[in-house]
Amino acid sequence: MNFKLSEEHLMIQQAARDFARSELLSGVIERDEKQIFPAEQVKKMGELGFLGMMVSPEYGGSGLDTVSYVLAMEEISKIDASAAVIMSVNNSLVCWGLEKYGSEEQKNKYLKPLAAGEIIGAFCLSEPEAGSDATSQKTTAIDKGDHYILNGTKNWITNGGSASVYIVIAQTYPEKRHKGINAFIVEKDMPGFEKGPKEQKMGIRGSDTHSLIFNDVKVPKENRIGEDGFGFKFAMKTLSGGRIGIAAQALGIASGAYELAKEYSKVRKAFGTEICNHQAVAFKLADMHTEIEAARMLVMKAAADKDNDENYDFSGAMAKLYASKVAMDTTIEAVQIHGGNGYVKEYHVERLMRDAKITQIYEGTSEIQKIVISRAILRD
Ligand code: CAA
Ligand code: FAD
Repeated sequence: MNFKLSEEHLMIQQAARDFARSELLSGVIERDEKQIFPAEQVKKMGELGFLGMMVSPEYGGSGLDTVSYVLAMEEISKIDASAAVIMSVNNSLVCWGLEKYGSEEQKNKYLKPLAAGEIIGAFCLSEPEAGSDATSQKTTAIDKGDHYILNGTKNWITNGGSASVYIVIAQTYPEKRHKGINAFIVEKDMPGFEKGPKEQKMGIRGSDTHSLIFNDVKVPKENRIGEDGFGFKFAMKTLSGGRIGIAAQALGIASGAYELAKEYSKVRKAFGTEICNHQAVAFKLADMHTEIEAARMLVMKAAADKDNDENYDFSGAMAKLYASKVAMDTTIEAVQIHGGNGYVKEYHVERLMRDAKITQIYEGTSEIQKIVISRAILRD
C-alpha cells in the first residue's frame, strides 16, 4: 500500500487550495449570510477544470482520477462548502452518469458544456414523498411514442435555480416499481418546467436549493438515459460515486475547522498561557486530528476503489457515514475551542458547524448509509 500522493495529485491539491484561498475566502461570510450563489466563482471553477474533473478531455473534461477529485473537493470545502456541493453535483451526479451511460448525441450536446463548466447541471431524485425511500417515485413519465410527458414535483434540488440541464428521475411503469423508472435530461427552458422558491437553509447557504414542478413537460425520447427502465439503477450507481464526493466535502469541512481551531489555540491566552497548553484543549485537537486522518483513509480508499474499478458502493457509504460524523463532531469542538468567538460569524467555525450537518442528510442520510453497509456485510 502506498499512502504517498503523486506529483500530479499534489499539484491539483495545491491548485484547489490556492483557488479556495484567493477566490472563495473573501466573500464567503457575506454569501452565507445573504444566501448568495457564487456565480462568478463557479464560472472560474469551470475555467480551471474543476467542474468536469473526471470527464475525458474528448468531452471537455480534465481527464483526472477520483483521487484528484476528492483532493480538490476537500480543499474547496475547507473554505466554502457551498461552492463544493455545486462542484460535487456537477461532477459526480451529472457529468459522471452522462459520460458512463449517455448516448453519443447526449454527450456531445450536454456533457461537453457541462464538463467545461460553461453551464451547470442538477440531479433530481428526491420528492416530497420519496427521499430516503427513493423507489417510491410519484413523478410520472408517460411514453407517447417519440417523446415522454413528465408530471410531478421534485424537491430539495441543489443548483435548482442556476442549472441549465436537469437529470430527472421519473416513473414510467408503476406496476414494475423500481424497474419501471427512467432517467431523463430536461432543459431549463422546456415548456411546463417551473422552479419553486429558493429554500432558506441552515447551512451551505451559498448553494441554491429549489423544488421543481413539471406540468406536462414534453421530453424527446432521445433524452432518456440508457435502456427503458434503467432509471433507478442509474440513480443508485450515480449516487454511489456522489457519496464519495460528499464524504470529501465532509472531510474538508472537518479539516478546515480543525486547522482554524489549532491556530486559534496557539494565540488565545487564558490563565497565563496559550490555551493549547491546557491539556483539555490539546486532547481535543489530538482527537480531531486522529478522526480526520481516519476519515481521510476511508475517503481515499473509496476513491481508489472507484479508480481501480473495484466495487465502491460499500466503501463510499462507509466513507460518507464516517466523514460526516467527523465533520459534525469536529466542528462542534472547533466552536468550543474558540469560546465566544466561535459563536460569531467572523471566525468561520460557526458556519462550518452549520454546513457540516447537511453531510449527514443528503445523498442518503447516515441511516441509509448504514442500510447499504449492513446489507453488504450480511451478504458477504
Ligand atoms: N448500484 C446498482 N443498483 C443498485 C444499487 C447500486 N448501488 N443499490 C441498489 N440497487 C438496485 C438493487 O439491486 C435493486 O434492483 P434489483 O431488484 O434489480 O436487484 C434496486 O436498486 C432496488 O434496491 P433495493 O431493493 O435495495 O431498494 P430499497 O427500496 O431497499 O432502497 C436504498 C435502497 C439504498 C435505501 C435507496 O432507496 C437509497 O439509496 N435511498 C437514498 C436516496 C438518496 O441517496 N437520495 C439522494 C438524492 S441526491 C442528493 O441528495 C444530492 C445532494 O444533496 C447534493
Ligand atoms: P426522510 O426520508 O423522510 O427521512 C427522515 C428520517 O427518517 C431520516 O433521519 C432518515 O434517515 C430516517 N429514515 C427514513 N427511512 C429509514 C429507514 N428505512 N431506516 C432508518 N431510518 C430511516 N435530492 C436530490 O434528489 N437532489 C439534490 O440535489 C438534493 N440536494 C439537497 C440539498 C439539500 C440542502 C437538502 C436538505 C436535501 C437535498 N436533497 C437532494 C434531498 C436529500 O437527498 C434528502 O433530503 C434525503 O435523501 C433524505 O430524504 P428526506 O428529506 O425525505 O427524509
